[in-house]
Amino acid sequence: MPAGGWSEPALQPGHDPFQHLHDESYAAPFAVDRVGWRDMLSVAGRTLESLDGDWNFVLDLHDEGLRQRWYEDEPGPIAGWRVPRDYDDGDWQRTAVPSCWNVVRPEWTYFEGGAWYTRAFDFASGQPGERVFLRIGAANYEARVFLNGVFVGSHRGGSTPFFIELGPHLRQGQNRLQIHVDNRRRPERVPMNHTDWFNYGGIYREVGLLRLPPVFIRDFGAALVPGSAGKRVAVDVTLSDAVDGVAEVEIAGLAPLDLPVTAGLGRIEIDLAPELWSPARPRLYDVGVRFREDELRDRVGFREIAVAGQRILLNGEDIFLRGICVHEDDQALGKVTSEADIRRRFADAKALNANFLRLSHYPHHEMAARIADEEGLLLWQEVPVYWAIDFASPDTFSDADNQLREMIRRDRNRASVIIWGVGNENADTDARLAFMSGLAASCREMDATRLVSAACLINREHFRIEDRLSDALDIIGLNEYFGWYEPSLDGLRRLFANSDLDKPLIITETGADAVAGHDGAPGELFGETHQSQLYDRQLDLVESAPYVRGFCPWVLYDFRTERRQTGLQRGYNLKGLIAADKTTRKKAFATLSARYAELAQRQGET
Ligand code: GCU
Repeated sequence: MPAGGWSEPALQPGHDPFQHLHDESYAAPFAVDRVGWRDMLSVAGRTLESLDGDWNFVLDLHDEGLRQRWYEDEPGPIAGWRVPRDYDDGDWQRTAVPSCWNVVRPEWTYFEGGAWYTRAFDFASGQPGERVFLRIGAANYEARVFLNGVFVGSHRGGSTPFFIELGPHLRQGQNRLQIHVDNRRRPERVPMNHTDWFNYGGIYREVGLLRLPPVFIRDFGAALVPGSAGKRVAVDVTLSDAVDGVAEVEIAGLAPLDLPVTAGLGRIEIDLAPELWSPARPRLYDVGVRFREDELRDRVGFREIAVAGQRILLNGEDIFLRGICVHEDDQALGKVTSEADIRRRFADAKALNANFLRLSHYPHHEMAARIADEEGLLLWQEVPVYWAIDFASPDTFSDADNQLREMIRRDRNRASVIIWGVGNENADTDARLAFMSGLAASCREMDATRLVSAACLINREHFRIEDRLSDALDIIGLNEYFGWYEPSLDGLRRLFANSDLDKPLIITETGADAVAGHDGAPGELFGETHQSQLYDRQLDLVESAPYVRGFCPWVLYDFRTERRQTGLQRGYNLKGLIAADKTTRKKAFATLSARYAELAQRQGET
């Protein structure tokens, strides 16, 4: 030991400590083990071991942790380090999981970049041969997961759950879990870098561990057979492994039924006429599926949604969708949602006499559809194929298609979900047509029991509702802002007069900004009076068009968006019928509520 305690680690010839400064391909190793919809597991009736709570947290704007492989460093006191580091496990600052870092600290509000979540957890093996999975409810936008210093998997897509098997990297006793989350908006991502909603970042839905037997039930479905007039039910099962055997199905109180499984797949159809689910009578049945020592249990409603000409039929009956759009956004919590927040959202929708919500513009928390099943509300769920997506990129399509299939896999047993939306306001190009027709085909491949739509644009040349994509859709969605961005409602009159549709149309957006508490004179923009009168004028016209079978204005609550910076908006979109406090109702709320009550009465709904 040299004098004065000076010590020198051995020279490492060939090791260039500065190599990472020159390597911009640092993210490539973490794109190889990306998990997706095929790795999903149904958690219906399962118990997760929660990993929610306080985690270590550190921002990493330049992805130094990936570049310098921080995750490989064993944690320990700085005094014990042999070479300097720029990262110490982040235990000097903490944050909650789930949360959005943007609303945790003011200095993190607009942060777009990488960040590290780290926590330790104790683990002890359970059943012999058990398989252990990490489930992350959602992380925006891309997540890379490391267990005990080893990269174990990654996921992209900011609003759907993902599962990573921890297997051989788990230790008996203490384990160290690190998750790098990157919320950068990029042109090739889905959504791309330009959106009209706030870019929250973080692990913002629940995280937990799942312990499963060596062979388990990965997924199951139970639904009416389309066209069976509510008299036949299909149940399908997918196992984790391509094995043969017999699963057991319990449904609607019937005696257990055998479901033969071959190479891990099985499907039966049974003559069964369950009480049908509807908004008026949201009847749910207990459904159980068992295979060897594994079991899933869910509460399922049976209903059929279809289109016939210009009509939308729920259980064979014509229905008009009295809707409202809603974002997953909260002043205090950002994109984190709770059961109370969802139940308030649905109570406000029912106070509008609505029977339908468009969950915009990305898959909402799985609780939303589960609670809508109970409360008897119909839902449109969509993927954020929003505005100028990189439609020419096969990798962007793969990302969008995976998010779509994850959404469908997650919510396929939710009776409330009747429409899958494959995009919003996308300019009509050949690349966009191919991209979104491909997504529509994926919907039909994954799920024959729901309708497919998209929020389309107007053909400005002929000034009519016309979109090449509509051939791939069951319902045409139309966003139109006559009376706001296009002040004259004559445009809507002309549009309806020029258009002749052979399938149903839903007005998937219309509306106007209004500052809560500011009445304003008639016609005064940003006044509640103008917003309220616009709703009346819009509905007068909408009710004149026979093919309009749904009205879903924009939007239930004011919400954060970086791109609106007038002195009135100050970073908010004010088209809400309720202010961002989710309490203060504007005049237009009462206007729409009254109009929907009249519509409901005319349609024979009490
Ligand atoms: C568009 C878009 C919304 C946006 C709205 C608006 O139609 O789909 O996401 O917030 O218009 O301009 O307020």
